[in-house]
Amino acid sequence: MLTQIQDIIRSAGQQMRSADKIQSETKTSYRDIVTLYDVQIQDYLKEQLLKLAPKADFIGEESKDNKSSSEQCFIVDPIDGTANFLYGLCKSACSIAYAEHGEVLLGCIYDPYLDELFYAEKGKGSYCNGKPLRSLQGRLDQGITIFGTNPYHADTTEQTFALAKLCYKNTMDLRHFGAASVDFCYVAAGRAILFFEGGLSPWDFAAGRLIAAEQGLLCKTWEGKELNLFTRNSVVCGNAEAVAQWFELLEQTKQGAE
Ligand code: IPD
Ligand code: CA
Ligand code: CA
Repeated sequence: MLTQIQDIIRSAGQQMRSADKIQSETKTSYRDIVTLYDVQIQDYLKEQLLKLAPKADFIGEESKDNKSSSEQCFIVDPIDGTANFLYGLCKSACSIAYAEHGEVLLGCIYDPYLDELFYAEKGKGSYCNGKPLRSLQGRLDQGITIFGTNPYHADTTEQTFALAKLCYKNTMDLRHFGAASVDFCYVAAGRAILFFEGGLSPWDFAAGRLIAAEQGLLCKTWEGKELNLFTRNSVVCGNAEAVAQWFELLEQTKQGAE
């Protein structure tokens, strides 16, 4: 199934790349938007993926009737990084995960602008364009830290930026790309040492978490728990040492540090 999903996701990526006259509508707030391409690409993915597993459920960001769990399901973000897509920032990706009984077995994330296809099969490692990934080891000063702002939910804003400042003091530098699926891939690929965000939906993390986990990286909620595949979760992802250091910084934000 991996090869077929790779073909499908590349085709979805081509649809993103060839998009023009992109217009958006707002969903929950002025920050939370959708374009015709999000909907069209999701429809395409649903049709193609359900041919591979006709009994599977389909969970997609733009669906109204997502079920919360099932024996087999696809979890899909047709365009992750829609604001980047709208403004031509060329940092967006398509993300597809396939899960059985709540466990993600396949994950594919495709950035059509860099032609980078990240993928993992459970137990078989993670790759980009056929090459094995290699993540970073060590503490936060051994690399760049990526953070997401959880832009559609204001409840984590203060803590996110307090953490960003503390991380900045302890890491090589900070980045904010605006496409969470890609953020996981960059940690898995050793381009960054850690990624954190105050809230992500299943389609933002399902594939990326597997790609990171196949590098032996940890993905935890900010409470230190495993992520629940069918709900929103806060996320920190990185090697065990960097994640432990990050949790110390999180504790410091609770004491008012920044
Ligand atoms: C968003 C992006 C962004 C992250 C948000 C996500 P969308 O996804 O991944 O980087 O900060 O939390 O919701 O809405 O562009 O698919
Ligand atoms: Ca999306
Ligand atoms: Ca997303």
